[in-house]
Amino acid sequence: LTTFKWLWRLTYLSALGAIGAVIYAVYEDRNPQPQVQPDPTKKTLVVLGTGWGSVSLLKKLDTENYNVVVISPRNYFLFTPLLPSCTTGLIEHRSIMEPVRSIFQHRKAAVKFYEAEASSVDPDRKVVIITDNSEIQGDTSQTEIPYDMLVVGVGAENATFGIPGVRENSCFLKEIGDAQLIRKKIMDCVETAAFKGQTEEEIKRLLHMVVVGGGPTGVEFAGELQDFFEQDIKRLVPEIADRCKVTLIEALPNVLPSFSRQLIEYTENTFKEEKIDVLTKTMVKNVSDKTVEAVATRPDGTKETITIPYGLLVWATGNAVRPIVKDLISKIAAQKDSRRGLAVNEYLVVQGTRDIWAVGDCAVAGYAPTAQVAAQEGNFLARLFNNMAKTEALEARIHELSSSLNLKPGTNSADAAREIEECERKLRRIKDIKPFHYTHQGSLAYIGSEKAVADVSWWNGNIASHGSMTYLFWRSAYLSMCFSTRNRLLVSIDWLKSKMFGRDISRE
Ligand code: FAD
Ligand code: NAI
Repeated sequence: LTTFKWLWRLTYLSALGAIGAVIYAVYEDRNPQPQVQPDPTKKTLVVLGTGWGSVSLLKKLDTENYNVVVISPRNYFLFTPLLPSCTTGLIEHRSIMEPVRSIFQHRKAAVKFYEAEASSVDPDRKVVIITDNSEIQGDTSQTEIPYDMLVVGVGAENATFGIPGVRENSCFLKEIGDAQLIRKKIMDCVETAAFKGQTEEEIKRLLHMVVVGGGPTGVEFAGELQDFFEQDIKRLVPEIADRCKVTLIEALPNVLPSFSRQLIEYTENTFKEEKIDVLTKTMVKNVSDKTVEAVATRPDGTKETITIPYGLLVWATGNAVRPIVKDLISKIAAQKDSRRGLAVNEYLVVQGTRDIWAVGDCAVAGYAPTAQVAAQEGNFLARLFNNMAKTEALEARIHELSSSLNLKPGTNSADAAREIEECERKLRRIKDIKPFHYTHQGSLAYIGSEKAVADVSWWNGNIASHGSMTYLFWRSAYLSMCFSTRNRLLVSIDWLKSKMFGRDISRE
């Protein structure tokens, strides 16, 4: 009984603590401290992008040390790990978006933000040319932004490998707009298939959802889609539900190539049980408005061309370099061999430059293009820039004290000498910043039917886990990683709402 009492008290106190934390977070969010205005005598730090790399940097940067200017066509941060859940309406898209202006209002000094695309960088003149490509344009839609220091965190675009018909006929899954389009198209296919008089062949085509690319994006999306058919379409559109089919096409011999063998097998078996067709060793070569053409390698090594009709095609074959990055590469002699992004050194400085850094998917630092890497790189740059600012301030102070010692010998010289010594001690400690080192915490992926797979780093090894408990771990890990208390609350409500009432299948 006593144990039970203590457990109850502990639960009660934790619940009170959680409510208190939420109230405090809301209060803090609504009452930001007054901000220092930018100081034109300080260096201008221009940051391109508002994704994982750039926002992690901006979150930890002491903005009062620089004039910070942020440029991005997206005025929000997107929590990409939960993007596949938005394609079926399990989570509403705004729940995983955080406006950057509300992030910046909590920084000590004001941050200037321009919603625009950086269209080119001139490293000789140290300017970025920015273009407003939004729907509404004013008198000026292109201008130059000078910089002293530049951070490129523009991410990557979708790889299509020049395969004909991909751009015209398929949906990608990288941005909020992509998820919204997929959500609309799924329901369009379902409603069109349910139209009176539709032929059996056409119903089958319309309800065949093909996903190309068996990396984590393709696998998570295929899992979410099958859940949607099982949990909601079966209940709401029963007359056609048995014809809904998901097929995942992968060029390599297995899906999830970056996960351990055991988890690959578990995923493929789970997909088999869930009736998701997995076509491995199958490479898509051509796409038309209603079919994909692929070359499949049979077990005996022979190749066969197959044509697969589809209603919805989602293309998830990884990353390609953005035009702005290609443009910058072409302007830096030391980058002439860079193919996958900007080659950076161990301090993330773009090779061949002194004042340009790169983070995330657009930087080639020897790591996988993941949010985890981008976030750690952003945090590292924040520490580096904070230290650089402190170093400059200390060096200026030492210079000032040394000059005063030389000018007025005897006056307070002992105090000044002591302060110089103290500054030099601090300087030695600050200057000793180690190169960037990535710590891999593990890989997680949702595979549908309330199951997940996880390769978690443990000491010097790796623990592979899968199943329903891993799914709970996946949910709690991503909930805690959401950007803000607001995001956490909205995502929790969405999960609860979908559990209670099902997903909202209305097509906007
Ligand atoms: P991004 O986050 O893509 O941000 C790039 C920013 O640059 C954006 O704000 C964009 O608008 C802006 N930009 C683009 N062009 C320009 C320009 N010309 N000028 C200025 N700004 C520009 N990784 C994980 O570790 N775990 C996961 O679970 C996971 N899940 C994912 C799920 C999906 C569906 C996807 C697509 C990716 C997922 N990733 C995950 C990968 C992760 O999202 C990326 O590695 C990460 O977003 C890279 O961060 P970034 O800052 O380099 O780029
Ligand atoms: P990816 O590069 O990981 O996988 C793309 C897959 O498409 C590859 O396996 C490739 O063999 C296949 N492919 C390429 N061309 C093809 C063709 N013509 N026909 C058939 N298959 C073809 O890309 P993805 O999944 O978009 O991931 C990008 C990055 O984001 C990765 O680094 C990934 O780790 C990360 N990410 C991580 C997630 C997680 O940890 N849960 C979720 C989503 C992405």
